[in-house]
Amino acid sequence: MFDHSFFQCISCSKKYDINKIKYQCECGDLLEVKHDFNISIPDPKQWKADLNKNLSDVAFFRYKKILFPSLSDHSIITLQEGDTPLYDVSYLFPNFGYLKLKHEGMNPTLSFKDRGMVAGVSWANQIGCKIVACASTGDTSAAMAAYAARAKNMKSIVLLPDGKISPEQLAQPISSGALTIGIKTDFDGCMKLVKEITKKLNIYLLNSMNPVRVEGQKAIGIETLHQLNWEVPDWFVIPVGNAGNISALGKGLRELFDLGIINKLPRIAGIQTINASPMYDSYKMNFNELVPKKAKTSKASAIQIGNPVSYKKAVNELKFFNGVVEIVTEQELMDWKAYIDKIGISICPNSAVAVAGTMKLEKLGIIKKGNQVVTILTAHGTKFSKTIVDYHNQSSNKYSNKTKIIDNDLKTLEEAIIS
Ligand code: F0G
Repeated sequence: MFDHSFFQCISCSKKYDINKIKYQCECGDLLEVKHDFNISIPDPKQWKADLNKNLSDVAFFRYKKILFPSLSDHSIITLQEGDTPLYDVSYLFPNFGYLKLKHEGMNPTLSFKDRGMVAGVSWANQIGCKIVACASTGDTSAAMAAYAARAKNMKSIVLLPDGKISPEQLAQPISSGALTIGIKTDFDGCMKLVKEITKKLNIYLLNSMNPVRVEGQKAIGIETLHQLNWEVPDWFVIPVGNAGNISALGKGLRELFDLGIINKLPRIAGIQTINASPMYDSYKMNFNELVPKKAKTSKASAIQIGNPVSYKKAVNELKFFNGVVEIVTEQELMDWKAYIDKIGISICPNSAVAVAGTMKLEKLGIIKKGNQVVTILTAHGTKFSKTIVDYHNQSSNKYSNKTKIIDNDLKTLEEAIIS
């Protein structure tokens, strides 16, 4: 039963069959997927060498032996996600040894969620689940709906906090054919409902509390290190909402370390907005406890979360990687978003939280002069066009670039250009 992979509780270590649907342990805590790498990667050196022979494969296939060896190739539903750019922006930031931006917004549905959904929807396909559901702040739902649409005979249901996601994010599941339900609550309210309804109606839950999703998201850190020729940076910086992605990053890096593929551990910094900072508040109290609190409205709406589901996993990873958690203001995140957009790299406000956090940590001396840093950008700017236009229409904003509206007249046009 526990051949290649199994579920294991992160608290009491109880094991469960991977082929049975299970999201939480009987003790109530989170589960993680464990793989027997002696079977899938008996010779890590050889596996590492072989990766360079498989560069034309879709990323999920290339790294499958570490991501999810129990998934059979013919079950995989892919939209050719991955192989996202790692932009070097060091020329603008000489205090860093280097600063590179891993742009997960360059995935098929424009966010990192595709990395988890290739695993999640494929696993649903393998174990015969025909209806999948999630609660979302906009990106999980977009990805789940697209991957379910790509599968044969799979229906998807998304629960969204009504009025709290961008029009582009709302358009994604609607156009992919998902049953899209806006609920008059926030993300945390949707999360509570989706847990109850999936249990009641026997529907497969694809939020990141489903540990299968996390396995796919490990690819972000693993692929980054492959792009860096396995030279480990000093820091990874990542935005935190529900805390699934930071948990996945840590798990993937730990597994590489355990296999001897890398021989140094980076530090991890999780960044939140001041308007939704439960992880930061807990960090400040030595992670003694999580005090869920209602998240305030944030421009980084995808991480407007007051009760992060993967809190405990994230804390374990942050402790293991000597991590830190920092917060940034709404103005800081929007100004850094505009700055990065202006150098040709379009990012979402949630990604900008990580960029602003990177700069703050460098200013505070926590990221030291000469440190090599990879900051993870989680979604594309195009998903948030209203937020962008609103920022630029406000002349008092640092990088405002307001559209000039003129009469239909050549002379006025000339003046508009040369003034
Ligand atoms: N960045 C973006 C663009 C996101 O959509 C999310 C989460 C995060 C960062 C934070 O990742 O939750 O794993 O800590 N979005 C979820 C959603 C909650 O429903 O799309 P996390």
